Amino acid sequence: MSAELPTGEVIGGAPAAGATGPTRTPLVGGNPGWAGERGDFSHLSEADIRGDSYVGRRPLDGGVGGAVCSMPYQLAAKEPDAPLFEGPYAERAEKIIARYPDKRGALLPLLNLAEEVRGYVGPDAMARVAEILGLSPAYVRGVATFYTMYNRQPVGRYLVQVCTNVACNLCGGDEVLQAFLEHLDVEPGVTTPDGNFTVMEVECLGACGFPVAVQINSRYFENVTPEDVPAIVAGLVAGEDSSDAADGSGAGAGASTAGGAPRRAGAGSSSGAPADEA
Ligand code: FES
Repeated sequence: MSAELPTGEVIGGAPAAGATGPTRTPLVGGNPGWAGERGDFSHLSEADIRGDSYVGRRPLDGGVGGAVCSMPYQLAAKEPDAPLFEGPYAERAEKIIARYPDKRGALLPLLNLAEEVRGYVGPDAMARVAEILGLSPAYVRGVATFYTMYNRQPVGRYLVQVCTNVACNLCGGDEVLQAFLEHLDVEPGVTTPDGNFTVMEVECLGACGFPVAVQINSRYFENVTPEDVPAIVAGLVAGEDSSDAADGSGAGAGASTAGGAPRRAGAGSSSGAPADEA
């Protein structure tokens, strides 16, 4: 199948010799994803390709889209026993509930919001959500425990989710998972003693075209190999990729590690990212 390409600025290569106007060469493989490191879009940054406002940080008033973002990990300033649904979070909870004709429909996004506040959804958070929505605590617990994306205990500042589903498995997902576990000397689901890392095996992350996919907080690392793991961890420890740091530093830093190890995607660039998420 051949795609009709509009004319415009040069994409994916230099204009042909003697060309008089802007040209557009076909994308290698026709893949619009983050392929900068493959040379398809070498003149574009990740932010140029993905944009910088649709994922990751969002303002406390709810920002764009679904008005709730799930941050199932511990920011530097996040407290596992922080008050739920107070201040701006109360306003967001109201906004979320207002979107549903029956407030009980707001159960999942409200659990997301509780997880964003504390980094996990414990029994008291479930009870609070149940109270707000007029549901029984048992019902809320049944839902919260059905979805593996809700953490029921605090996790590290960096939640490392390694996909071992089909595409990633065929490309070494198990080996990447093992590399993270061995490098951090930790068991699956257990947080490192310094509180920094929790490594989990997860199902498909929706980045099957770039296996092995690893999601660390709200950022994606793609085409990850076991050899990339030390550099990824070192970058996080050094704050290089602190896209979710509460202090606002390094939001979505897009620079690649020397040697080209981690290929990343996801939260866009630091430019224009709201810095008031906490
Ligand atoms: S199989 Fe790994 S992202 Fe889909």
